[in-house]
Amino acid sequence: MQIVSSIAELRSIIQNWRQSKQTLAFVPTMGNLHSGHLELVNEARKRADKVVVSIFVNPTQFGPNEDFVTYPRTEQQDVVRLTSVAADLLFLPTTETMYPESSQTQISVAGLSTLHCGSHRPGHFDGVALVVCKLLNIVQPDCLLLGEKDFQQLAVIRQMVTDLNMPLEVIGIPTVREADGLAMSSRNVYLSAQERQVAPMLYQCLCLTRDAIKVSQAIGQNVLDEQAARLQQLGFAVDYFHLCRRDDLLPAGPLDKELILLAAVRLGKTRLIDNIYFDRALEDR
Ligand code: PAF
Repeated sequence: MQIVSSIAELRSIIQNWRQSKQTLAFVPTMGNLHSGHLELVNEARKRADKVVVSIFVNPTQFGPNEDFVTYPRTEQQDVVRLTSVAADLLFLPTTETMYPESSQTQISVAGLSTLHCGSHRPGHFDGVALVVCKLLNIVQPDCLLLGEKDFQQLAVIRQMVTDLNMPLEVIGIPTVREADGLAMSSRNVYLSAQERQVAPMLYQCLCLTRDAIKVSQAIGQNVLDEQAARLQQLGFAVDYFHLCRRDDLLPAGPLDKELILLAAVRLGKTRLIDNIYFDRALEDR
């Protein structure tokens, strides 16, 4: 695996690949790579001749009181892991490379970015959109792979790619989970041993809610309230527990079929997000 930090070096390698008509898949990350990230690389390898991965802890997507400084940085371990899944090129830019002092442009996917996590983390998705837009312009891949655990992020990026006519395919890859159901996340390392025992209950609550809503004649608000209260009892502080339409992430109505449950909770100092999507069998009513 080649490792580069400058945009010029990256572009020169990619230009050589392009000259020999090779296709390119791109996996952007913030490092501290786990099996979920490696799955993205494995899926990327199936879809293109070359796989480019970036590791950049993007300051513009962290709020002033969030974990930018303490975000786990595990570069050497990440290089070993990426080599084990045969990524071709790792881009490791510095903050100065990504955000020269002269930069002024902002990007905002105005509607989607205000919902759900957006209302709890103001500016977060603007930072994500900006860095992903810049990385896409730098790498110019044929396809971009992102995990479905960050489902709203995936939706924001899809919308940006459509709105800005970016010539690439955005591919969401299903969430990879620990054996007990906890969605893999770089932030899981913040959990204490005791919190780690409780954390899988978030996914259990999502599954129970899905099962109840699937067979329910109503919209399921009572089920959502019950499960949110259950999470609070278990020690989670619930930011939101929402039932939405899968295509635009707006609140689900009684006639909507393709649904997604989106949840964000805090357990101690760790913020966990997760989701589960499913179809409601309306024709059975
Ligand atoms: O999901 C992430 O790790 C980040 O939000 C991303 C997409 C790499 C942008 O910094």
